Formats: sequence, structure tokens, C-alpha cells
Amino acid sequence: MARQSEAVLPEEQIFYPSERFTRQANVKSREIYAKAQASPELFWALQAERLDWFRKWDKVLEWNPPFARWFVNAKLNACYNCVDRHLKTWRRNKAALIFEGEPGDARVLTYWDLYREVGRLASALKKLGVGKGDRVAIYLPMIPELPIAMLACARIGAPHLVVFGGFSAEALRDRINDAGAKVLITADGGWRRGKVVPLLRNARMALEGAPSVERVVVVKRIGQELELDPRKECWYHELVAEESPCPPEEVDSEDMLFILYTSGTTGKPKGVVHTTGGYLVGVTTTLHMTFDLKEEDVYWCTADCGWITGHSYLVYGPLANGATVVLYEGAPDWPRPDRFWQIIDRYGVTIFYTAPTAIRAFMRWGEQWLDGYDLSSLRLLGTVGEPINPEAWLWFYQYVGRGRCPVVDTWWQTETGMHIIAALPGITPLKPGSATVPLPGLKVDVVDKEGNPLPPGKEGLLVIREPWPAMMRTVYGDEERYVKEYWGRFPGKWYYFSGDGARKDSHHYFWILGRVDDVINVAGHRLSTMELESALVEHPAVAEAAAIGKTHEIKGQAVVAFVTLKDEVFAEIKRGKRSWQAMEEELKAHVTAKIGAIARPDAVYFTAELPKTRSGKIMRRLLRAIAEGKVLGDLSTLANPEVIAELKRRYGDQE
Ligand code: WT7
Repeated sequence: MARQSEAVLPEEQIFYPSERFTRQANVKSREIYAKAQASPELFWALQAERLDWFRKWDKVLEWNPPFARWFVNAKLNACYNCVDRHLKTWRRNKAALIFEGEPGDARVLTYWDLYREVGRLASALKKLGVGKGDRVAIYLPMIPELPIAMLACARIGAPHLVVFGGFSAEALRDRINDAGAKVLITADGGWRRGKVVPLLRNARMALEGAPSVERVVVVKRIGQELELDPRKECWYHELVAEESPCPPEEVDSEDMLFILYTSGTTGKPKGVVHTTGGYLVGVTTTLHMTFDLKEEDVYWCTADCGWITGHSYLVYGPLANGATVVLYEGAPDWPRPDRFWQIIDRYGVTIFYTAPTAIRAFMRWGEQWLDGYDLSSLRLLGTVGEPINPEAWLWFYQYVGRGRCPVVDTWWQTETGMHIIAALPGITPLKPGSATVPLPGLKVDVVDKEGNPLPPGKEGLLVIREPWPAMMRTVYGDEERYVKEYWGRFPGKWYYFSGDGARKDSHHYFWILGRVDDVINVAGHRLSTMELESALVEHPAVAEAAAIGKTHEIKGQAVVAFVTLKDEVFAEIKRGKRSWQAMEEELKAHVTAKIGAIARPDAVYFTAELPKTRSGKIMRRLLRAIAEGKVLGDLSTLANPEVIAELKRRYGDQE
């Protein structure tokens, strides 16, 4: 890559693809954009040839806004595409998964190994009574059994719901109940920074209030002495011991592949539903184009399978492409902050996909941790999760990529299923901080509140104007919410509303400005302010609460909670029976227990009243400005201006 100029605005700084990269790139010519635009359906039909279908489609797309059906009446199986079909070629003996556990244990599974493991678990699940359409919950650490369990479900047509291992028992219970899962696959524990994450203990707590689960399958990861309850629980290794692979189920293109829960603007996370055909075409194609994936690559995506990135770009996309995938269980700084560089060096990673929050942490730990590691195998770097600040982009480019690797930022969402805005690294000049341009065949725009397109330079709302193959199909059990929240924003126009603000520059590059709704983004993870607030008010001491995202150097945003205590609790503190600090700690622990460690507030600010409009709405905008020490702006709609002065005095501009 050639760097054009120094000391200019980020949007002026341009990195052109090197000739060497372009020459070998999967996409070498800009023609692809024009071709895709001329007929998106033809474009996606051509891309669909990447997959093996049991029956081809009658029609590429049926669009009854806002309901889409892609590859109508086609039949396929996602597991067959990710595993079985590779056995017919030399890939049979290719490494599919290279696993490294946090304690340093390692395991390599070839495609043949993967086939046996997945097939045996699929057979075992069938014997437990799991049939097509039955939901299976997965609550596992990042060990091979996690992708294996996902693929085993896909093999028998049972939608999975993967719940991130960092979520609490209660969060797990809510998701299981919403989906009505029949079986839960979990582990005796997982490793995180040298400590055991007690997954089975959480799972048992969750199941106390989750009657739909009939059986629990437990992977022995930690190897502690543990008694299972034989009526309900069984060991994974015993369950699969006598099994042999069952054939893959033929499913319809529009059959559900999985549900994945994500935070929205209400207190309750929503189950985003993805189906099979369009999703698999979308993720397989985009991975090939945006990351220039080749047969020889060693591909590492650091996301957990509990998030959409893990689904699309660690399991389904790479394995459908027959890639070699690195899977790492633990933390980037365990036992030391050089763990990632060690892994890249050890396995010769060529494509490395991570999050801006991780990059900012590496920056803080310092470049010296890269010393002595051979990172010359790397040829492409990717980022996702939040807007990448140009400093982090440049650091990644310079210290990790050694100025040789394109940095491909990818904007997308749980709901979009696949990359939407991203560079094609062989042809797209890069600007640090911009996700660049929409991928071929996608119509993305920045519009005003009425849905009118805005010219370059103007800030507005990010929308997608046409359906795309990996789009979500509905919110599980709540179609109304799907229609209203995503497609009902601009009456008379069927535009998908992303929840993000954005602006285009004079080259029509997109600059994402972050969420415009009540969703906050902590270290690339989505949390809703409502979800945090309902957790807080469930605590007996809390009368009212408001949560905001405060700008944070590493995490992008950190949770800050403003809390009004009940009068009697306040009186107790005044009388010295309890302390403010103890109360703050208790509330932080309470949120962690309710949702998970990612939701733990960095600070809890106590206030006698929350600032509200005359109609009683909490003005989170003001709370955020107070926490960040910013100018407060218009206060005219405020019903209780006196609380602002008090809050500013106590908590204004605190670090
Ligand atoms: C939200 C989606 C897609 C996998 C990770 C998160 C933000 C995501 C970027 C990016 C700017 C980004 C958006 C989006 N976001 N990637 N490259 N640049 N913002 O998935 O949990 O569904 O969150 O993450 O705000 O709406 P998610």
C-alpha cells in the first residue's frame, strides 16, 4: 500500500492498493460494482453457485416488503456445505480448525475430523429427540465443540441459539425461554485469564426457570470432579462415543438456521432470525471478496461465537469456503499481552480479523509486545464492531501489518448477517476511519428523518434500500417488532433502518457516526440503555435509574449509571448505616449478575432526581454531556433544571 500524504484530515489520507496485492486479488476490477448494480438478483444467483444445492431455486428473490424470501424453493444444508462437500476433494485432509486453549493446549481438526465430530453429535442429538425446527441452546467457551455444536444443529435442521459464555444465568434463562429451547449444550467450565468460568453452575441456575429444556449435554473442558444429574444431564463424550455420522437433513432455503439475541431499544433483547440459503450465500461471498480469502490462507477471527461475527466469519463463511480457521479460547493478554502475536507467529496466520477496542488495548500495552514475533505471514487485516478511529487504524496498519497489509474495516450488524460496507482490498483505496463503500449489489444511503437522500457532507441516518440475501427475516416470536423497528421508520418507503448515524464524503465514502438510538456500544458489544435500566431498578435500593454510554479510550463507550435511591436507603446512608461506595459496588455487582460482566457500569452516580422533560422522559443526552464534561446545549425542555446544577457540581467532567 502506498501512503499518499501526511498531516491531513483523516478523510484526505488515502492508501491505495499495491500492485502486488491487486494482481493476486479475488476481485481485480471495479466492473463488479456495475454488473451487480445492473441486476442484483443475477449477481446473487451467480454467487450462489459457490454452494452445493440439493435443489436449485425457482426464483432468486421474492420481495413482499418487508418480508424477503431468497432462493425460493431451493433445498440445501449448511453443514453439508461447510463440511461434507470438502471431503470429496483434497480438502478432506486440510486443517479446518486450529484450536488453542487458554492454558496452552492445542488441537487440530481436519475437515474429515470435523465431519466425524459434527456427524456424531448430530446423531446423538437426534436420539435425544431433537428434530427439524427444534431449538438448541449452546452456552460454551471458545473450544472446538462450539462450532461443532452449531454445525451439528445445522445438520439436522435444528436452529441453534448460541449464548455468549460471558452472559449471566439470568440472561441465558431469558434467551432459552424466548426461544423455547429443547436441549442445552454447555461445559463444566471455560478458561478466562487463568480462572474458571462456571458455565454449568450458571446453566443449572438458568434452568431452574426454563421448563422447555429436556436435556443438558455437558462438555468436559475443565475436568473438575462433578456429579451430573442422570435424569437430565449427560456428558458430551459419553453421548457421542457410540455414534456415527447421520446424513444431513435437506432443508428449505428459508428454513431457520439460527436465532441470535441482540440488544435493541427496549429492555428485552430480541431474537434475530436468520435462514439458510440467503445467509450462507451472503457470508460465503462476502468473505471471499472483502478478505480476499484463498485456499492457502490461515484465517483468524478473534470474535467469540456468541456474537454474529463468530457465526458469519468464524464458522459459516470460512468453513463453507473450505478455509483453515484459528480458534482461540482465551484473553488477548493472558498470560501476557503478547498472546495474539504469539498465535499469529505460531500458526502463520495470514488474515487477521479483530475489533478496534482490542487494537486500542494493544496500543496502550505498547508495541514492544510485538518484538521478536514473526508476523510476516500476515497479508490482510480486518476490523469490526464500532467505528475505528484513524489512530488505531494507523497503528494496526503500521505495527501489525508492517505497512504491507490492507486494513479492511467492515460495517455490518447482527441483523444484516453479512458485511455491508467494506472495501474490496484489491481495488478500493482505503481511508483510515471510514468503512469505505457498500459492497457490490447493495444499496446503502444516508437519509434525513423523512427518508430523503442527503448529499455528501451531511449527517443523517444510515439505511439499506433494497433487500440482501443474509438479511434477518424476523424477530423471533415478534413479527410486529421486526416490521416496526427495522422497516417502519420512513412511512411510504421500505428502507431498512440500521440505528446508526452516518455521513458520506465527497468520494461517497461512508463515515459511521455510531448509534442514534438508545443502544450503546461497549467494546464492540451492544447493550441497550433500557436493558441496563431495568436491571438496575430491579435492585431493592433503586427508585429510578438512567444508563448512558460515556466515551472511553479503550472500550469506545463505557456504561455510566445515574441512580436515584429509595428514600429509606438514602436515609440509611445519611445516618451512616451504609456507605455510598458500598452501594455503588453493590449495584455494579448486581448488573453483572443480571446481564454479564460486559454490562458492568464503570461508575454509578447518585442523584436525588433525574433530569426529565415536561412529559416525563429522561434526558439521557444531558446525562451523557454531564458525564463527559461537555456543553449541555438546549435546556428549555427540561422540567427540573435545578438537578442539572447539582449533578454538574458533583460529577461533571470526572475521570
Ligand atoms: C452495530 C452492530 C457486526 C458485528 C459486530 C457488531 C456498530 C459494527 C462497525 C464498523 C462502525 C460499526 C454499529 C452497528 N458497528 N461494525 N465497522 N464501523 N460501526 O454487531 O452487535 O449487531 O452491532 O455495531 O453501530 O449498528 P452488533
